[in-house]
Amino acid sequence: MAMRRTQFLLLLLWLLCVYAPTCFCANVTYDHRALVIDGKRRVLISGSIHYPRSTPEMWPDLIQKAKDGGLDVIETYVFWNLHEPVQGQYNFEGRGDLVKFVKAVATAGLYLNLRIGPYACAEWNYGGFPLWLHFIPGIQFRTDNEPFKAEMQRFTAKIVDMMKQENLYASQGGPIILSQIENEYGSVEGAYGPAAVPYINWAASMATSLDTGVPWVMCQQENAPDPIINTCNGFYCDQFTPNSKAKPKFWAEGYNGWVLYFGGAISYRPVEDLAFAVARFFQLGGTLPNYYMYHGGTNFGRTSGGPFVATSYDFDAAIDEYGIIRQPKWGHLKDVHKAIKLCEEALITTDPTITSLGSNLEAAVYKTEAECVAFLANIDNTSDATVNFNGNSYNLPAWSVSILPDCKNVVLNTAKINSASMISSFTTESLKEVSSLEGPSPGWSWISEPIGISKADSFSKFGLLEQINTTADRSDYLWYSLRIDLEDDPGAQTVLHIESLGHALHAFINGKLAGSGKGNSDNSKVNVEIPIILVAGKNTIDLLSLTVGLQHYGPFFDTWGAGITGPVILKGLKNGSTLDFSSKQWTYQIGLKGEDLDLPSVTSGQWNSQSTLPKKQPLTWYKVS
Ligand SMILES: *[C@@H]1O[C@H](CO)[C@@H](O)[C@H](O)[C@H]1NC(C)=O
Ligand SMILES: *[C@@H]1O[C@H](CO)[C@@H](O)[C@H](O)[C@H]1NC(C)=O
Repeated sequence: MAMRRTQFLLLLLWLLCVYAPTCFCANVTYDHRALVIDGKRRVLISGSIHYPRSTPEMWPDLIQKAKDGGLDVIETYVFWNLHEPVQGQYNFEGRGDLVKFVKAVATAGLYLNLRIGPYACAEWNYGGFPLWLHFIPGIQFRTDNEPFKAEMQRFTAKIVDMMKQENLYASQGGPIILSQIENEYGSVEGAYGPAAVPYINWAASMATSLDTGVPWVMCQQENAPDPIINTCNGFYCDQFTPNSKAKPKFWAEGYNGWVLYFGGAISYRPVEDLAFAVARFFQLGGTLPNYYMYHGGTNFGRTSGGPFVATSYDFDAAIDEYGIIRQPKWGHLKDVHKAIKLCEEALITTDPTITSLGSNLEAAVYKTEAECVAFLANIDNTSDATVNFNGNSYNLPAWSVSILPDCKNVVLNTAKINSASMISSFTTESLKEVSSLEGPSPGWSWISEPIGISKADSFSKFGLLEQINTTADRSDYLWYSLRIDLEDDPGAQTVLHIESLGHALHAFINGKLAGSGKGNSDNSKVNVEIPIILVAGKNTIDLLSLTVGLQHYGPFFDTWGAGITGPVILKGLKNGSTLDFSSKQWTYQIGLKGEDLDLPSVTSGQWNSQSTLPKKQPLTWYKVS
């Protein structure tokens, strides 16, 4: 007798219940106070570690150090251009092994917040977008545009499917308790006009339709549609209120420090201030802060965003670029986390009652039948204070929070550090010492890059070309080369005026470096006037334009462009005239010879290794092991 469909399904269900390997599947939801896991609200401490900014060998150690520091959750972006460098060709190897990273987090017994984006910003090249996306006909990024939405949905679904196949969502027994769609769109949304809201609504429903079984967040997105949780980014997020009374107060990016730019200052955020910010967040009802970054790491290869984001992404984080615990930051935050966890029962049971204890002095009390927790804050940044609370007197240093898990005894004040300091120092090795090292790589060697056009695939075009559309970011370098024939003696006062969208350039006249220019992280444009000497007759002008990390942030950042778009004008000719070269026939070369030779890995005799190195010679590749 044929089984009826419902009978069959019931049998199947029974079989699954009896024989399925135990699934520690968690039911993750949220309410106005917190993330709710299996029916219980949770206070969770989170920290960002971006998997491609360290090596797979480092991951278990970094994650363990995060756990030892009191973290419950690791947060990471997903980097589209790392995973799909060519459309349809995926890379999840090495530092891109996302599944391995998520599993390492699970092995350590921590949760994970997967910020798929797929726009990441993250001071990452082109904000994480693959360059090929830019060349799709009719595409406009991050707006209500069909070609863009199709690609965004395809990649997001690809990542979600990967996670599902490995059972990595909490709903399947895995560590992923949250996911993010889009990123910080609220801060640029105005520029996208009426198409912005439909786009955000589409992104929200597209994400929810992927059915991950865990909540989605959008950071910096005041109009995040239900059920997406809008979260705060900032140095302080205690004053943040979510856009619905049904949503909890989450802090997606609490900055440990800041981004390092080439030539910029190394950031430093005192842990007293960071601890103050975190304690204030809990004082005023927050339940999930995230350190951005907990370990920043390194921008390997050409992954730095731009312009001018440095290779170090240290961020003054609790774990430094090299994976070493930074003290007293790591230790003091650990103490803060311990103090907060002592308060967890009361924090998740009730809302705080806020009272003033005087000017810039504020108490928050979480009181239940069984528990009483208090946070006492002095938000004056200049003077210490003594306050009366529940009949006792407490000293509150300026800009500090005291945590009282029993409304009586202070277990921690954010301004008082018990962790020992540790100051790392770097030792430098001189060229000479490096050169004298024994072994197969005895020291420095070098090779010269030809000036001007040297590759067979160069090409000529009338006019000045925008760089990113020309190189598709296959290289940071683009040569603009021009041959000119001057009938008369140009005189000794000539100046070459060059305007470029950036990010840097070198000008060579008749094979010799005549001058350089560069933009900076705030303004990538380069406008230079370079005095040059030309001769009557034939001359060559070779301009080498460089990108230093592609723009990763801002409205329509993907279209800002780079390179020498002109004008390029010769001024100060003897006869009083000027010559505009902008629409002349220029010859272009994408990339340098050294890149084609993959120089760092070449060990052959092409390298010179005499004991005197050429110094201050333009376009020299140097190598040392
Ligand atoms: C998951 O938890 C929520 C809230 O705690 C509850 O309403 C819902 O029924 C639970 N779902 C399952 C499948 O247990
Ligand atoms: C101290 O607080 C005042 C008032 O809020 C503020 O204007 C000032 O920038 C703060 N100073 C420092 C060093 O944080």
